[in-house]
Amino acid sequence: MPATSFDLVVIGSGPGGYTAAIRAAQLGLSVACVESDPALGGTCLRIGCIPSKAMLESSERYLEAKDHLGPYGVQVRDVGLDLPTMLKRKQTVVDGRTKGVDFLFKKNKVTRFEGRGRIVGPGRVAITGSSPAEIEARNVLIATGSKPAPLAGVRVDGDRIGTSTEALAYTEVPKHLVVIGAGYIGLELGSVWLRLGAKVTVVEYLDRILPGMDTEIAREAQKLLERQGMEIRLGQRVTGASVSGAECVVTCEGSEPIRCDRVLLAVGRVPETDGLGLESVGIRVDDRGRIPVGEGYATSAAGVYAIGDVIGGAMLAHKAEEEGVACVERIVTGYGHVNYEGIPGVVYTQPEIASVGRTEDELKDQGVEYRKGVYFFRANARAHCLGQTDGRIKVLADPRSDRILGVHIVGPRAGDLIAEAAIAIDFEASSEDIARACHAHPTLAEALKEAALAVDGRSINS
Ligand code: NAI
Repeated sequence: MPATSFDLVVIGSGPGGYTAAIRAAQLGLSVACVESDPALGGTCLRIGCIPSKAMLESSERYLEAKDHLGPYGVQVRDVGLDLPTMLKRKQTVVDGRTKGVDFLFKKNKVTRFEGRGRIVGPGRVAITGSSPAEIEARNVLIATGSKPAPLAGVRVDGDRIGTSTEALAYTEVPKHLVVIGAGYIGLELGSVWLRLGAKVTVVEYLDRILPGMDTEIAREAQKLLERQGMEIRLGQRVTGASVSGAECVVTCEGSEPIRCDRVLLAVGRVPETDGLGLESVGIRVDDRGRIPVGEGYATSAAGVYAIGDVIGGAMLAHKAEEEGVACVERIVTGYGHVNYEGIPGVVYTQPEIASVGRTEDELKDQGVEYRKGVYFFRANARAHCLGQTDGRIKVLADPRSDRILGVHIVGPRAGDLIAEAAIAIDFEASSEDIARACHAHPTLAEALKEAALAVDGRSINS
């Protein structure tokens, strides 16, 4: 029989919840984690980040083998698509990762409860499911994440018209996929099916893709995606989507309806707080459904905390992880901190798009002066060896202190390159610090060094 009383009960086992549970156990707390899905890991591991990256990798390799290996001196004939194997591999990757969380829970003695967790009063969590239970909790951490945002007029049927969950598992390549929303999900999953042979039309309400990312970088990314064959229609608000016979019809304000065979709705995500029993402890969500938190991620109810997508801020797995750790460290040690300036964002298209710190748009809006250094991958030797010379790195720094304010990248392996910039921002480094640090040659990382040198107008290789 598992214990029924814990120092901490975490509701939700996504990256935010499971990381917090493990850290709390390391700090000596007795910890339980309540998760309704049989597999641990939440949206990220089961139906988000991990399966999408597996499909991005497979689709990239397929396209490369089919169209791009010739110039490297590699002749490949009769390249074929084996979608069932691709989907199976994706599931194997997912299963391995979710079982990994099971292993970590056992290793750290985190007690797992399967079922839906519901707060039923101060310090009490009821679990409904195959083995109902009620447990006592000195502290409760809500880490229930988010779910796809609905859009008025779009009737999601879980098949032809679906969300990212369906788009990660189409059993045949769509002839024409319409993606609603040019955000992270739309561009990543649009890329997957484009590479596998679908016609892909992305319809975006704004006059740009990737709102929130640096505009200059987003514009370049858009051109590169369009060059790959992705059709991107900006400034068009989708007003509806429905299935009509064998077709789907997507209606847009001010333009002709689009006919297609699959629709992916990717217009953002909303916090998941259904059935959590927030009212039993007097917690009220805000007008966007988020749980308000104060210092240390404390909600308005004593002993109840919330982190990740259910509270404000970027809906990113790694942001939730940092918050989870900071929250439990603060409960135990009185100190825990997240530097929100240093949280990177990565879009795993080809090339990747990555960003940390403030964008040029934000600095302009805030009236903050800055110096800017830009370096193009076409001047980087390693990029030539890779055969991936599109894109640029932009470093923004304070004109007086030279402290780095933001770094924005579109280019090969941007998602890995951004780590150096995130550390630099965390350490409050100057662009000169990066410029003077020795970077191995020939690497893509030299492009960041050169962009940092360019802040002071002294790039060597351009
Ligand atoms: P998003 O917020 O990134 O983009 C949604 C887009 O839909 C926006 O550009 C918005 O202007 C547009 N839109 C809204 N209403 C529309 C309408 N009626 N017609 C046309 N366009 C409309 O949301 P997305 O892509 O659904 O992703 C959700 C969350 O998941 C994001 O917050 C993101 O941070 C996270 N995510 C992160 C990933 C990563 O880190 N690589 C990958 C996938 C998701």
